[in-house]
Amino acid sequence: MKANEQGYGVGSNSYQAAGELAGITRLVDAFYDNMERLPEAARIRAMHPQDLSESRKKLTYFLSGWLGGPRLYRQNYGAITIPGFHRHLEIGVAERDAWLLCMEQAIAAQPYAAPFAEYLLAQLTIPADRVVQACAGGEP
Ligand code: HEM
Repeated sequence: MKANEQGYGVGSNSYQAAGELAGITRLVDAFYDNMERLPEAARIRAMHPQDLSESRKKLTYFLSGWLGGPRLYRQNYGAITIPGFHRHLEIGVAERDAWLLCMEQAIAAQPYAAPFAEYLLAQLTIPADRVVQACAGGEP
């Protein structure tokens, strides 16, 4: 994550602002609950395994490290490149928007300070755009 003037993105500041592992777990639970609920997300929901428990755990672990906390994904599953991991999937602008919609509503449901909520969503659009590029064959 890029640092901003509030200091998010520096050290473990974003991890703390997100409520550490418990807060990230709540965020990811809300995110996948939205994916199951929102009609706009039906297509990306269908790309996931029927049982979302592993997906919930993996995204929680990934975000822990990405936000500057413990690198739980790497420790448990090894290295991952987000664009490369998704490139076998059919993810275009509509799928990215659906993913970000689930995330936007999940973030809004957390007790985050407004500047952090805005920062987090803005930062997540960066890898989301890279996923779209990779799926179009443009990025490894
Ligand atoms: C752009 C829209 C995105 C869509 C439609 C999407 C969709 C998916 C799908 C379908 C899977 C499950 C694949 C499977 O189990 O076979 C998955 C896994 C995952 N996604 Fe995404 N994704 C998107 C963006 C992102 C972003 C931006 C991140 C990180 C910030 C991310 C992190 C992950 C992680 C960590 C996994 C689990 C990897 C693993 O199985 O080891 N995704 N995603």
